[in-house]
Amino acid sequence: MQKKIISEWISVGMLSERTGVSVSALHFYERKGLIKSQRNTSNHRQYPKHVIRIVSLIQVAQRTGFSLEDILLEFEGLPNRTRVTLEDWEALGSRWQSELDRKITQLTELKNMMADCIGCGCLSLERCWLLNPSDELGEKGTGPRLMTE
Ligand code: FES
Repeated sequence: MQKKIISEWISVGMLSERTGVSVSALHFYERKGLIKSQRNTSNHRQYPKHVIRIVSLIQVAQRTGFSLEDILLEFEGLPNRTRVTLEDWEALGSRWQSELDRKITQLTELKNMMADCIGCGCLSLERCWLLNPSDELGEKGTGPRLMTE
């Protein structure tokens, strides 16, 4: 019986097909240092199969609002950057969930402040919390701060 050989490497087209990410985006990720390929004997790029999980994580992180630079920093903190384990995913997911909670709180506060401004339109540096939250400009001194900075 002939043994079936399963390749541990996939082409950029296959990676694109498996992740739904365009080939050009995958090349962009590689230029940014998020994923790595190697050249085969025909000089074509090939990726280890476990890169599928890394690309999937990049997609989740981007949907969460992280920039590629943020994601790269997160990946650099992983014990083994070339292979993402279930434990890595749990740690990343937990941190990303905290970041989402922080953003939700921040956006809810902004929404509440905006509700006070609807129908007002004064955009007063003294009164408007949207324009000058917590009177931050007042802490810098008197005068037309926005005009001189
Ligand atoms: S626009 Fe008047 S308080 Fe914000």
